[in-house]
Amino acid sequence: MSTIERLRVELGERGYDILVGPGLIGRAGAEILPLLRRRQVVIVTDETVARHHLAPLSASLAEHGIAERTVVLPPGEGTKDLAHFGRLVDDILAGGVERGTMLVALGGGVVGDIAGFAAATLLRGIDFVQIPTTLLAQVDSSVGGKTAINTAAGKNLLGAFYQPRLVLADTTSLATLPRREVRAGYGEIVKYGLIRDAGFFQSLEAEGEAVCDLEPAALTRAVMVSCRMKAVIVAADERETGDDRALLNFGHTFGHALEAETGFGDRLLHGEAVALGMVLAFDFAVRLGLASGQDSHRVRHHLAAAGLPTELSAIGLSGSDADRLLAHMGKDKKVRDGAITLILPRRIGEVFVMRDAPVEQLRAFLAEAR
Ligand SMILES: NC(=O)c1ccc[n+]([C@@H]2O[C@H](COP(=O)([O-])OP(=O)(O)OC[C@H]3O[C@@H](n4cnc5c(N)ncnc54)[C@H](O)[C@@H]3O)[C@@H](O)[C@H]2O)c1
Ligand SMILES: [Zn+2]
Repeated sequence: MSTIERLRVELGERGYDILVGPGLIGRAGAEILPLLRRRQVVIVTDETVARHHLAPLSASLAEHGIAERTVVLPPGEGTKDLAHFGRLVDDILAGGVERGTMLVALGGGVVGDIAGFAAATLLRGIDFVQIPTTLLAQVDSSVGGKTAINTAAGKNLLGAFYQPRLVLADTTSLATLPRREVRAGYGEIVKYGLIRDAGFFQSLEAEGEAVCDLEPAALTRAVMVSCRMKAVIVAADERETGDDRALLNFGHTFGHALEAETGFGDRLLHGEAVALGMVLAFDFAVRLGLASGQDSHRVRHHLAAAGLPTELSAIGLSGSDADRLLAHMGKDKKVRDGAITLILPRRIGEVFVMRDAPVEQLRAFLAEAR
């Protein structure tokens, strides 16, 4: 029997709790009630999530006398644009909203990001609660206070740092998530082990399969360790001014290039891109003499066993795409003054920020990648 775990994100007066475990959506009313200034919330969700998980949330709120309105968005990354954002805030404002109104984001990272940005900007900021329903959102996007939408110029370019009042990560809600989405989220869990916890990576080698099979105890543990690590990193570097928070981008500069090249769509999910990106980062570090081939092999083996892509060929790319990938990497947000910044591993459990990565060696490496 797995129970609810609680973790505090230490951000002074902006600090908040993350709850992880089964059945939390059914307890949402009780958890949210103490945070409310008025018994009124606006739920933001998407059609798919609404179909599976809205009814128990509504019932739990009603049970505690909390009035609720719901705005249902279409599912998918396309929803995170200015047009949908405009309609969302218009809808919320038309229904009446006051400073004391609480916004509740029920869904994956798309819902969390757009609803969080709405909360950050409506009336210059109203409270919001995250109820993440994808594994990726539970271990990553719902923690840390980054909110954003996409613009014509690129992804996540319009947003705010804005912390939720509470995160409820209901592990039972993942049962309805497509397997491929679960595996993609698992890629981000592995990332936490690789960036600073070799022991955690080792435990994932033992029970990663159980996590992907949503076995309650293993799943709750993995989500908790991930959230705790992100919470500690965020508390030390809330607005990503130092290197700490940048370490969370391990695998992401390569990953974003792969996503851009494959069109940011179903061909390659974000977590899949991160998995392959982490393998490329390890291989490149081996080539530069920074990491061992043994560690690189271990990482590739584990991610492949989890059903994640670990070769360019698996996603229909090859070394002949090197120049285009490099061009995408040059456009990554983490680029400063035209130089490419990479997060590279020294070993499993330790990564560092390399500014001014050697571009020609990177080009040669990608050209030879399979
Ligand atoms: N703010 C951050 O720090 C941060 C970090 C990482 C990613 N992100 C953002 O998160 C987004 C990706 O998030 P995501 O992977 O959760 O995608 P998503 O929100 O699009 O969810 C993926 C799909 O799963 C469906 N879904 C969600 N929960 C479900 C459930 N329990 N059962 C069945 N279907 C369900 C959704 O409707 C959607 O079709 C991207 O926009 C990315 O930029 C933000
Ligand atoms: Zn990510």
